[in-house]
Amino acid sequence: MKRFNVFVTREIPKPGLDLLSTKCDYFIGTCENRPLSRREMLDGLKKADGVLSLLTEKVTRSMMEEHPVKILANCAVGYDNIDVAAATEMGIPVTNTPGVLTETTADFAFCLLLASARRVVEGDKLTRTGKFKGWGMMMLLGNDVHGKTLGLIGMGRIGAAVARRGKGFGMRVIYADVSRNPDIERELGAQFASMDDVFRNADFISLHVPLTDRTRHLVGARELAMMKPTAHLINTSRGPVVDERALFEALRDGAIAGAGLDVYEGEPEVTPGLLSLDNVILAPHIASASVETRALMATTAAANIIAVVDGRRPPNLVNPEIYGRSAH
Ligand code: GLV
Repeated sequence: MKRFNVFVTREIPKPGLDLLSTKCDYFIGTCENRPLSRREMLDGLKKADGVLSLLTEKVTRSMMEEHPVKILANCAVGYDNIDVAAATEMGIPVTNTPGVLTETTADFAFCLLLASARRVVEGDKLTRTGKFKGWGMMMLLGNDVHGKTLGLIGMGRIGAAVARRGKGFGMRVIYADVSRNPDIERELGAQFASMDDVFRNADFISLHVPLTDRTRHLVGARELAMMKPTAHLINTSRGPVVDERALFEALRDGAIAGAGLDVYEGEPEVTPGLLSLDNVILAPHIASASVETRALMATTAAANIIAVVDGRRPPNLVNPEIYGRSAH
C-alpha cells in the first residue's frame, strides 16, 4: 500500500524524521539554510499528502486550492506563515508545536534582557577590537535588572515563563493581555495593567503575543514615546508586532535605552539603521534554537502528522473547528 507522503519543507532534526518514517514516506524541500520559493513550495505540495512546514515557508490560500493536502504541521509555535482561515474553510487541519519550546524561548528572552541591560555585546566588541585598555570606573555602564519592573505584553505560556525568571531575579512583574491570568497573579504577585501603563512603568518590556491583524505594529511610535528613557524593549515574538522604523528612531534618539531583538519586520532583512546602533542586540531568530528543543519541535510536528495518518485528531490543532468545536 502506498504510504502517506510528507513534504518536509526544510531540514529538521533527525528524531523528527525518524518518527515520521515509522508511518510515512517523506522528502525534504532543501537542506540549504534558506526559505523555499513559491515555485518550490508548489512542486513539493503537488507530490505530498501532508506538509511539515517551517515558519519561513508561506502556505497561501491559492497553494492549498491548487494542492489540497491532508495536514499542515507547522514546526513552530507561531503559525502566521499559514493562511489558517483558508485551511479551515477547506477542512485542512493545521497544527503547531506549543509547550515544548516555552522554557527555551523564555531563557532566550531573558538572555536578551540581561545582555541589553548590561551591554554584553558592546563589551564583547570592545574587547575583540583591542579597545579594552583596562578596567574603567566609567566604562560600559548599564542598567540593573534586580529590583526593576518587568513588563510583559502577553501572559500566555512563554510570557509566564519569562515572568518566573523575572521574579527569580528580584523583579516586580506587571503585564497586559486580552484577559487576566489569575494563576500567575497568585503565583508571582504579577499585576495586571493596561498596555499604556505597562509601557509607562516598566523598565524592561518583553513581547509575547502571536502575530495577528490585532497585534501588527502593537508597538509603534506612540508606545515607544511612553517608555522611560532608561527602559529596554525585548522582542522574541514576531517582527511585525513592532514598527521597526519607529524603534530605530527611538533607539537612535535615546528615547529608550536599548533593545534586544530576535525577530524582524521584514525578516531576514533588518531596518538598515539598526545595524549601525550599539544599543540594540540583533539575534537571528534563535530563541528556540537549542539541540533539545529543536528535536522536540520536530517530533511534535511529526506526531501531529502521524495522528492524521492513523485517523486520529492531531494533538496540537490550531483550527479545531474542522472537527466540530465540542470534539476533543
Ligand atoms: C518560533 O518563532 C516559533 O514560533 O516557534
